[in-house]
Amino acid sequence: MIRPTTALLSATSIAVFGMFALAQNGKQYVPTYYVDVQPILEKHCVSCHVAGGIAPFALDNPTSAVKWAERIGEVTKSEYMPPFPPGKDSQKFLNERRLGSASKKILQDWAAAKAPLGKAPRK
Ligand code: HEC
Repeated sequence: MIRPTTALLSATSIAVFGMFALAQNGKQYVPTYYVDVQPILEKHCVSCHVAGGIAPFALDNPTSAVKWAERIGEVTKSEYMPPFPPGKDSQKFLNERRLGSASKKILQDWAAAKAPLGKAPRK
């Protein structure tokens, strides 16, 4: 006889595996503001892009980030933002203000997907 807990466990693992397989074969992962984008902006952009900061608009809230999403994708791809005047061939600096390629890809995929917000964390 199969015990109910065993049945439940196998049903769960089949479901989890199914979702995993779907995620692998199906559509590409779409980054969202709350899960993926907000932490990157917080770390790399908000020091200037904040009300009263040196940048002309804030990126510290979802409304503004979504409004600027397309430009965010473009300027991070071209490496115009975050501004870091030394070129790629210059010597290395401590704390270089550059985005890693994973972060850049997240911002570009997010912009391309029309800047979905995703689920806001519970306060
Ligand atoms: C050191 C300060 C600083 C940081 C850090 C910074 N920015 Fe900026 N940003 C500026 C300033 C100043 C401007 C306005 C002048 C300009 O466009 O060059 C600007 C302009 C922009 C623009 C408008 C450009 C245009 O031509 O439309 C976008 C989009 C932008 N920033 C995105 C970002 C993103 C995304 C990040 C983080 C990955 C970031 N910025 C980090 C200072 C900063």
